[in-house]
Amino acid sequence: MESFEKLLLENKAWAADKLQADPNYFERQVREQNPAFFWIGCSDSRVPANEVTNTQPGEIFVHRNVANLVVNTDLNMLSVLQYAIEVLKVKDIIVCGHYGCGGVKAAMYNRSFGLLNKWLRNIKDIYRIHRDEIDAIENEDLRVDRLVELNVREQVLNLSKTSIVQKSWKNSDLPTIHGWVYDIGDGILHEVIRVDHTLEIDPIYKYDDIDL
Ligand code: CO
Repeated sequence: MESFEKLLLENKAWAADKLQADPNYFERQVREQNPAFFWIGCSDSRVPANEVTNTQPGEIFVHRNVANLVVNTDLNMLSVLQYAIEVLKVKDIIVCGHYGCGGVKAAMYNRSFGLLNKWLRNIKDIYRIHRDEIDAIENEDLRVDRLVELNVREQVLNLSKTSIVQKSWKNSDLPTIHGWVYDIGDGILHEVIRVDHTLEIDPIYKYDDIDL
């Protein structure tokens, strides 16, 4: 059997198990999704949002990319963000990085990855700002892990700079934005930063007349 065929086979077994445990499971799923959380995570296969938070389909709205970045010209991320806030009205947004992130590590060195260079450039900018702190750490893995934390923090602040979040904060208390880092070594999530509508955004990023 080809490895992809195993996925299809396992899918049938999974669907059957769900039905056996709850005959109305899929019927309920079809009706609507009402997730309270929006997760922006790394594409890394070891950090699946539902699995590490012990949640079910329908509970978390998910967007993933290399190194969990919030880039202000990324129409994909912005579209998901707008839908999460304006339609789903999520209570919490979670930006989740993970220790040992290959994308973050790659950004700390000079090897060229072609197109990926342009994406990772966003992380090089964060490294440049915090170079003194990071370079003072002797252990290479710990240097990467510190940049992972600083990257998560920066992406949370990037969310607060979007007109989408500013508009929501003008009209309501939602959402709260969390920056977490997942430790692949023990499965534990660590909080790095949490901000809400009371955050004082750097004035240069504030819009006085908010329109998308
Ligand atoms: Co990663």
